[in-house]
Amino acid sequence: MQYRSIVITERGTPEVLKVVENELREPTSEEVRIRILATGVGLTDVAMRYGYYPYAPKIPFVPGYEIVGMIDKIGAGTSRVAVGDRIGALTVSGGYAEYIYLSERELFHVPSQLDPAEVIALILNYTTAYQMLYRTAKVKKGDKVLITGASGGVGSALLQLGNLAKLKMYGLASRKKHEIVNGLGGQPIDYKSQDLVKVIRDAEPDGLDFVFDGVGGEYIGRGFKVLRKGGKLVEYGFPGFIPMLLGYLKLKMLDILPNRKSGEFFGITAQYIKDKQPYFDDISKLLKLLKPVSLSIPFSCSSCSIFLVRSRYECALLIRSISLNGLEINPVAPISKTARIAACESLCPVIMITGSCAVLWSSIERTFCKNCRPFISGI
Ligand SMILES: NC(=O)c1ccc[n+]([C@@H]2O[C@H](COP(=O)([O-])OP(=O)(O)OC[C@H]3O[C@@H](n4cnc5c(N)ncnc54)[C@H](OP(=O)(O)O)[C@@H]3O)[C@@H](O)[C@H]2O)c1
Repeated sequence: MQYRSIVITERGTPEVLKVVENELREPTSEEVRIRILATGVGLTDVAMRYGYYPYAPKIPFVPGYEIVGMIDKIGAGTSRVAVGDRIGALTVSGGYAEYIYLSERELFHVPSQLDPAEVIALILNYTTAYQMLYRTAKVKKGDKVLITGASGGVGSALLQLGNLAKLKMYGLASRKKHEIVNGLGGQPIDYKSQDLVKVIRDAEPDGLDFVFDGVGGEYIGRGFKVLRKGGKLVEYGFPGFIPMLLGYLKLKMLDILPNRKSGEFFGITAQYIKDKQPYFDDISKLLKLLKPVSLSIPFSCSSCSIFLVRSRYECALLIRSISLNGLEINPVAPISKTARIAACESLCPVIMITGSCAVLWSSIERTFCKNCRPFISGI
């Protein structure tokens, strides 16, 4: 039997992605074979495609940072999982496929009543947000924070979790996404027309407790300016290899200045490689916050994968380069609402859109997916 994967064949724009077919093989004794039910598509995958992500495998490879799937076959040496179990994994690569082979050490159990497309959003974005809030910053009720990229995948997770932690939050986003930031409990600041430092200094003359920055560049310096003495900037995103290097140096420099403000880089994968247990502890807490789906989703088609699109670039990418099961999605010339709902209900495949893409294509998100926005219901 054959299965399909999407391969990055060389560095570059979405055109470098190719759909390939492989023979489904038996798992080795240390492996389990997983039928993928949902995978995420996001900005980190874009960074990998352009070749500036440090944890990417060598090209050619199958991207896909996270998966939810069903155990399809187990190797003789495995003992913690069984055929039919619903599992999730932070794969870093390999998720854009119908099947994947992993060691059982990489897997965590996912309650079967949860929607795989919601769970997928927790695996990278929400766990990144959760670990930065509780492991790096150690926030407490009433802390004042700034979140850059607040309308993005990780930024909106920070807002949602920060709201539950009762933080006072400022969210940097483009004007058209302010409603989203407001809706998630943040006070929006427009990065195009407003002076971030002035707005924060006027509103919070004593400065902020924490800045969570997923944009990098100039925001590192500006973030330090709005911190109070003793405050901390947590940096987690850089837009390219050179900016990453420069950003890291700048962060280190500002960190050692004797101004009692500190900066720290957070990387979920580096932490996960060092010690997997904190990741498994945190994802299990987040899974408990997810509301079980009220509708049962008919995963009837064995060749169907759900793609959760986390960024506008990847949204365009899927639309331009992939036609799965004959269903072509073209939001530039949107298909009718009825057709989209029909596509959603047939679930073969469903394209789920969250993060900045959701905001950009909000009409699509609303019609495509009744359950797709993670609904977090109280810590
Ligand atoms: N370190 C880690 O562990 C970790 C984990 C996950 C992701 N990441 C990284 O985090 C970054 C964000 O990922 P994501 O998935 O959240 O991306 P995303 O959903 O595409 O969001 C990107 C955000 O950046 C904002 N933005 C773009 N240009 C801006 C500018 N000039 N000034 C201010 N804001 C700007 C966008 O705001 P508007 O849409 O409002 O313009 C959007 O909210 C990526 O670099 C990703 O690789 C790191």
